[in-house]
Amino acid sequence: MTGEPQVRRAEEGSDVAQAYDRWSRRYDDDHNATRDLDARVVRGSPLHVAGSKVLELGCGTGKNSEWLAAQARELVALDFSPGMLDVARRRVRSERVRFVEHDITRPWPVEASSIDVVVGNLVLEHVRDLGPIYAEAARVLRPGGELFLCELHPYRQLRGGQAHFEDADTNETIPVAAFQHSVSEYVNGGLAAGFTLRALGEHLEEGASADAAPRLLSVLFER
Ligand SMILES: C[S@@+](CC[C@H](N)C(=O)[O-])C[C@H]1O[C@@H](n2cnc3c(N)ncnc32)[C@H](O)[C@@H]1O
Repeated sequence: MTGEPQVRRAEEGSDVAQAYDRWSRRYDDDHNATRDLDARVVRGSPLHVAGSKVLELGCGTGKNSEWLAAQARELVALDFSPGMLDVARRRVRSERVRFVEHDITRPWPVEASSIDVVVGNLVLEHVRDLGPIYAEAARVLRPGGELFLCELHPYRQLRGGQAHFEDADTNETIPVAAFQHSVSEYVNGGLAAGFTLRALGEHLEEGASADAAPRLLSVLFER
């Protein structure tokens, strides 16, 4: 491995949605330490989900939607991959949950100040510019509302880590187009949008060696 970033630069948009459509057939069955650690991190976070109206960004196959839906008053879950959404809809059947096919780089389909908690997990590596994401979070959250993001740690990205999968038909390894974001970008983007930082987390899976780079970065902001 060279010291150069391995993250595959690419245009935002449809190739990512198409890649996830292909991955959706296997996403929940593949061994995926990042996905599994993320599930533990969000469930252990000090978020106030119970009784809240929650907006989830890039819900995928609903791994976290299931947990959110069990407690929230209402959950709106956005994703732009119809394949991933199909799996999520089969997994989470509740009148309190609305799965919406939507590109989160476009204005979100909810009213201003109408949301208590915004959650985004393992999605922003596919988004080039975080500014509009933070701006939309600031628009839709009520004062005192929470924004929780958990992403592949930038150290891992710099070492070549990136979302990838084996195609179910060809067994070819497909990297999904990703963008590099630094810790300061995640933190300062939220501060610039008027959020207060409540917690910054760096997470390693159980059993990882003590000198391993953190796998996930999480930020918890309050509006
Ligand atoms: C690695 S998966 C994570 C899914 C889920 N959050 C989880 O933690 O299991 C990333 C998801 O983000 C979605 N995604 C990526 N970019 C997006 C965008 N611009 N708008 C909406 N969804 C997006 C993909 O379709 C995919 O379902």
